[in-house]
Amino acid sequence: MRKPIIAGNWKMNKTAEETKALIKDLIPLVSDTDNVDVIVCPPFVNLATAAEALAGSNIKLGAQNMHFEKSGAFTGEVSADMLLAFGVKYVILGHSERRQYFGETDEGVNKKVKVALQAGLVPIVCVGETLEEREAGITSEIVCKQTKLAMLGISAEEAKGVVLAYEPIWAIGTGKTATADDANDTIGAIRNAVKEVFGEDTAQSVRIQYGGSMKPGNASELMAKSEIDGGLIGGAALKAEDFSQIVKF
Ligand code: 13P
Repeated sequence: MRKPIIAGNWKMNKTAEETKALIKDLIPLVSDTDNVDVIVCPPFVNLATAAEALAGSNIKLGAQNMHFEKSGAFTGEVSADMLLAFGVKYVILGHSERRQYFGETDEGVNKKVKVALQAGLVPIVCVGETLEEREAGITSEIVCKQTKLAMLGISAEEAKGVVLAYEPIWAIGTGKTATADDANDTIGAIRNAVKEVFGEDTAQSVRIQYGGSMKPGNASELMAKSEIDGGLIGGAALKAEDFSQIVKF
């Protein structure tokens, strides 16, 4: 059985004070959910505040990105070691907004995945198709290629520790959700891509989230699907009540 994993991607939202307040509200609402991995991913500058506010709770800390180099002249970037020093356990890699607005490539995502695994961080690797790609009928092809390239050169054992997130780009922040059946089919295709590279055992172990306008009203339907192991939540992660309802799907 794969343990469900619900992560909040706060994106570029919340000041330090707001971070503290949201976490304070969230902790009691999800304190009895040991059967689900619960993660919040605030912006870098609020990781210290978040780590302090999360101390002693069952919520784990994640980051939204990192660089693949250990240190050096990379203005504006943050390394795996820096994240670990804050108690960060998870790191979102290759989010479509990073790919779209900041030029991230499959090759760069792969480098980050390898470094994260070596450092002991759990990568949450995002894949997803554009509306144009969906309409052209090449969704599976696109997401399977992204998956294989992100995981290129890692071992089957390492692959088991990767979390994948299927986020159709057209469903992010739009209120449009993939139907539960569609999301399940595409996630099944992603799992099959993992199987082709790493074998059945790894494919059955790896957890794959759905992301894109997931909210209290659709979480239980999505989570009931056999292939969907969790959610990567944007907008609805910014409200303690909404996020906690998703965690309790
Ligand atoms: P929304 O839940 O706001 O659609 O965002 C999804 C997302 O991009 C999470 O990483």
